[in-house]
Amino acid sequence: MGRTVVQITLIGLLLALASTLPNKDDWDIYSFHINSTVTSRYATTVITSRVANRMNESKEIEFHVRIPKNAFISKFRMFIDGQVYDGVVKAKEQAQQQYTEAVSRGESAGLVSSVGRTLEEFKTSVTVAAHKKVTFELTYEELMKRTHGKYELQIHARPMQPVRDFKVDVHIHEEAGISFIDVKGGLSTKALANAITKTHADKQAWVYFYPTVDQQKMCDSCGDQGMNGDLVIVYDVNRDNGLGHIKKSDGYFVHHFAPSDLPRIPKNVVFVIDQSGSMHGRKIEQTRIALIHILNDLAEDDHFGLITFDDRISYWKRELVQANSKNLESAKNFARNIQDRGSTDINEAVLQGARMLNAHNREGSASILILLTDGDPTSGVTNLENIQSNVRQAIAGKFPLYCLGFGFDVNFNFLEKMSLQNNGVARRIYEDSDADLQLKGFYEEVATPLLTDVTMIYVGGTNLTQTNFSHYYNGSEIVVAGEITDNNIETFTPQVVAISSNRRIIFSNPNETVESTGTVSDDRIQRVWAYLTVKQLLDKELQLSGPEKEKVKKEAMELSLKYSFVTPLTSMVVTKPPGENTDVFHKPKEGETSQRWPSPGGQPNLAHLTPASGYRVRVVPFATTIDPAVERAFESWFSSLDPGEIVDIYQLFTEDRGFYFANPSQSRKKRPTVREIFLDVFVEHYSLHGDPLQATDAPLLHRFLLKAENQTVPLCFDVSGVLNLKLLHHPSRELFVNGELDSVANGGFKRIFIHFKTNQHVEIDTKGVTVRDGQTETHLTGQDLVTGGRYIDIYIKFGLLIYFSNVTVIMRNNEIDIAAGDVRLVILVHEKNSIKFLWPVLRQHPSANNTDGLLALKSVVYEEVQQVPATKLKIKNQEINVTNGNASDYSIASPLMMNCWLTSADSALQRPLANFVVPQL
Ligand SMILES: *[C@@H]1O[C@H](CO)[C@@H](O)[C@H](O)[C@H]1NC(C)=O
Ligand SMILES: *[C@@H]1O[C@H](CO)[C@@H](O)[C@H](O)[C@H]1NC(C)=O
Ligand SMILES: *[C@@H]1O[C@H](CO)[C@@H](O)[C@H](O)[C@H]1NC(C)=O
Ligand SMILES: *[C@@H]1O[C@H](CO)[C@@H](O)[C@H](O)[C@H]1NC(C)=O
Ligand SMILES: *[C@@H]1O[C@H](CO)[C@@H](O)[C@H](O)[C@H]1NC(C)=O
Ligand SMILES: *[C@@H]1O[C@H](CO)[C@@H](O)[C@H](O)[C@H]1NC(C)=O
Ligand SMILES: *[C@@H]1O[C@H](CO)[C@@H](O)[C@H](O)[C@H]1NC(C)=O
Repeated sequence: MGRTVVQITLIGLLLALASTLPNKDDWDIYSFHINSTVTSRYATTVITSRVANRMNESKEIEFHVRIPKNAFISKFRMFIDGQVYDGVVKAKEQAQQQYTEAVSRGESAGLVSSVGRTLEEFKTSVTVAAHKKVTFELTYEELMKRTHGKYELQIHARPMQPVRDFKVDVHIHEEAGISFIDVKGGLSTKALANAITKTHADKQAWVYFYPTVDQQKMCDSCGDQGMNGDLVIVYDVNRDNGLGHIKKSDGYFVHHFAPSDLPRIPKNVVFVIDQSGSMHGRKIEQTRIALIHILNDLAEDDHFGLITFDDRISYWKRELVQANSKNLESAKNFARNIQDRGSTDINEAVLQGARMLNAHNREGSASILILLTDGDPTSGVTNLENIQSNVRQAIAGKFPLYCLGFGFDVNFNFLEKMSLQNNGVARRIYEDSDADLQLKGFYEEVATPLLTDVTMIYVGGTNLTQTNFSHYYNGSEIVVAGEITDNNIETFTPQVVAISSNRRIIFSNPNETVESTGTVSDDRIQRVWAYLTVKQLLDKELQLSGPEKEKVKKEAMELSLKYSFVTPLTSMVVTKPPGENTDVFHKPKEGETSQRWPSPGGQPNLAHLTPASGYRVRVVPFATTIDPAVERAFESWFSSLDPGEIVDIYQLFTEDRGFYFANPSQSRKKRPTVREIFLDVFVEHYSLHGDPLQATDAPLLHRFLLKAENQTVPLCFDVSGVLNLKLLHHPSRELFVNGELDSVANGGFKRIFIHFKTNQHVEIDTKGVTVRDGQTETHLTGQDLVTGGRYIDIYIKFGLLIYFSNVTVIMRNNEIDIAAGDVRLVILVHEKNSIKFLWPVLRQHPSANNTDGLLALKSVVYEEVQQVPATKLKIKNQEINVTNGNASDYSIASPLMMNCWLTSADSALQRPLANFVVPQL
């Protein structure tokens, strides 16, 4: 095959952009991608930021992103000047030593710190020579937790500049089937809402977020610095209400258990509320409000108690009482009159709460103790270990204790340890205007117990994560992972035993076929196991002391190292180019606002960063004439290539604030300006096997899908023959997109033309892109390079960004991304039977109401009106005949076969197809 890859890296000075970007920073983030893949609720997210230093001197370039607290960073790399710098996860002590040595050499450290409630900030920087660039790539992983009946994938986007090539791609694959998917968060509102597209097929869903540069400056929390906000993907999976879903791969399994058709269990709940002086003001007010809401939500067969405490204990009632309306009224009155005063006797308060629950032993009910406090114990027993030991004795594993720590003055560690020792969890309540909602939200998570004493049993399973759970609440989920002994699926038998009210129930499915990820080896289930095991070991470590603690710690650390997780026990060490700081990253503990170690303030040594060391990366200054040094450098590079491998080469010219490629045979003709930024152009050599374009004998039909609103089954229709179709006409932007169908059955488009204003045109075919701006023509294609049986394909591995007037063209592997004003269009290159074709997708719907074309069609609204003898749908009071069909959804990178209602084009479009046919591209 003789396949060689030669890389030419050309760095364009971005002066052309500098005038349009208000950002005065010394570097340009020219590309920012976030890619999140979710399978079995396990999300792996990769953030890739590519930055160019456009100054004439070395600059320190920062990478600064936010990731969910719950996630573990598993990889960080930097690509600079052809070199890869990989972060290495090491034991914290070892990293600390390395760090200390670095400090003694006058270097500083990297930073991960907590920000807000759910995020951590990851920050590093590296010195980049003049006109060179750097790529940062950060990977993190998290197991999503189901609360309130849904999973939430939070993606924080803050690239720090408006970025031309900005995108977020999310792909979710859940074998159980996705029951719903929604996009929320600050970035899904107003102007940016148009930039979100989502595709939901039974087991898979895709969310794309492709805002244009203009939009990145327009959103609520955005400005000249670009976007700063969240995209939250909310979804849930279908439930079978039995044993749940078990997925296995490579000898590991993960079990998701969340039955919902069970009766709720009446509960006994005691609220122990801190009313010490520190609760003064808004905190106590919000607590009152939350309590009153929560009391309103109690069911009649619930029993409850209410204790407030400072240095004394106040009871509303000494014993638990039924949540009838009379009692609730009285309790609400009590709640309204809670006053702050005195110091904090947590010990006595919790013991009294436990006493009340112990005294109220009710068959078939679930008991819960909830403590809310905002400070350390300052009265009564104040020794933390004594309190923990007293509480553990009083509760004796009979019910869970949930601790809510209000604000940052609490010893959260203490609360966390105390709840973990008693089968509960601790949660921080942030002092904010919505503190009452946070309290209520937490209560709702535990408001509906469905099962108690849940035991998960796996015969033939080993190395299991936690298998005993005191309660299972509606809207939550129990997750267990483990190894399958000897990978023997035959003997592996999962079973769940639990108590529902007074009944013992066994969930098992004798016919259970444990679903496997197929023949493809996939270590993700193993990573889920590792993630969960490490999280649980860290919780366990917190509760232990002495040699036991050390043993658990060691185990957690070994796993963290093996799976390369940055946890509280490990650190990531990033070694940078010689002479620069070594960064050491730690995961901050909950509540830690910053993990900054003292900065020694040493000056980095820049001696090695003098330009033009080595040839692979060339500095190409923006100038009206080509720099002779650059020209010489290119000639030297070309001559260093093996002539046997090279059939043709491109040469680079700069001219009047612009660059373009030209074939050397065309020599240096004077051409008008096309402003371009060239990035990582790869020249790849292939052997050519025959003619790739061969039409088949099947009838020449192209099938189109038309999404339907609030219906899972879309419409589909066929277009016969090779037509030129109107894809998008956007008169107010003077933007027209037309496509020519190919002569391949069930293929797509052969060519797509984009016309912008009267003089700018982009022509796309499966081989490349031609950009015409007035008289200028920039052509990037491999097709005209076919010579002597060899075929050179210039493809753009990462991307080529062409920016002319107000159109940006970004070429990536197998997709071409075009942004113009409020439109962002992606043209996917698909391949079927070795034949390539194009498929256009609108990733950014123009807000104007006078757009036209196949891509501008709104989702159709239909209802089924008749099934027998044939199915009929009603669209806008008109009945149409349909049959069952299927079609490939080419709007996603890996096309998917979907069921659809097949009808004629005219019926589906509600207009004659002829309206969408144009005489000319
Ligand atoms: C996202 O990452 C997944 C897994 O690494 C990869 O298969 C996929 O192609 C990526 N998607 C994009 C749009 O880069
Ligand atoms: C898993 O369990 C086996 C014994 O069943 C043990 O030998 C092995 O060390 C365990 N692996 C881990 C990672 O704990
Ligand atoms: C299990 O198999 C039996 C007989 O094949 C069938 O009747 C039953 O419905 C199956 N149960 C489940 C839960 O699939
Ligand atoms: C589709 O569902 C949404 C939310 O349920 C509703 O607001 C909208 O009106 C529905 N559209 C149609 C056409 O029924
Ligand atoms: C580009 O867009 C800006 C504002 O978005 C507009 O003022 C300018 O006229 C546009 N230029 C062209 C050539 O369309
Ligand atoms: C289209 O929008 C403009 C304002 O943006 C409005 O004046 C016009 O009535 C709208 N036309 C239709 C058909 O909705
Ligand atoms: C729909 O089918 C019925 C027969 O089932 C036929 O009479 C009618 O003409 C068809 N309507 C259209 C619009 O094709």
